[in-house]
Amino acid sequence: RTVAVVLAGGTGTRLGLGIPKQLLKIAGKPIIEHTLAVFEAAPEIDEIIVLMATGHVAEAQKIVDKAGFRKVTKVIEGGDTRNATTRVALDAVGEGDCNILFHDAVRPLLSGRIVRECVNALWTYAAVDVAIPSADTIVQVDENDCITDIPVRATLRRGQTPQAFRSGTIREAYRRAEGDPNFAATDDCGVVLRYLPETPIKVIDGSDENIKVTHPVDVHLADKLFQLAAAKVPRLTDHRAYSEEVSGRTIVVFGG
Ligand code: CTP
Repeated sequence: RTVAVVLAGGTGTRLGLGIPKQLLKIAGKPIIEHTLAVFEAAPEIDEIIVLMATGHVAEAQKIVDKAGFRKVTKVIEGGDTRNATTRVALDAVGEGDCNILFHDAVRPLLSGRIVRECVNALWTYAAVDVAIPSADTIVQVDENDCITDIPVRATLRRGQTPQAFRSGTIREAYRRAEGDPNFAATDDCGVVLRYLPETPIKVIDGSDENIKVTHPVDVHLADKLFQLAAAKVPRLTDHRAYSEEVSGRTIVVFGG
């Protein structure tokens, strides 16, 4: 059994809309509906559990019912922090061994390819992350915003979601974290890295399009990406297909 856990317990303070950003409509649908549709359509996923922000569970349930998502078995309230939401999800998944994929509800441009590769990697690895290379140099700074280190870019990746685990591994990592008074918030792979350091965490390739809607500009980006998908424009991430498609056509350069 493979369960997709959709983390929607946040309120989106950085976007500052007054409603949780996962309820914002992009390309005609709430962000969370786009996200759920990917898991609903993925043959590797058997069940979907939604963890929703306090006070918005009924709205999320309505979206699920209206869209007719059959794999969604539970729509329940998340926790105060992302880690707390994961803990609630682990309880909701119930007993027994399974694979669990944790995904940010606000990454609606997840592809079926990424879901498939996560689930396939769980045959070999007990923990799997999704990440992309960084185009920008990443600098480390101190409390005065002065650089303390510039790690070699080739060794760095930008983490996305899903993060996928065999249930026994993620449960054990959280069990150990619970006993640690110095537990510091981190993503779920961070919990495994810290409390089960002997567990290799495989990284599979994410996508430039798998953006996390975080700041206002991301709403425009996501909207444009959905338009391109609907128009079946070859993806810019597949550079060869794109240049073949556009050759012989007029290319509009924005801002030109
Ligand atoms: N999340 C969650 N439970 C929380 C906090 C966050 O399930 N208590 C989820 C969010 O709903 C989101 C994902 O974790 O899908 C990534 O978090 P982030 O982008 O930080 O979302 P928010 O916490 O909503 O945004 P902000 O930090 O701007 O308030």
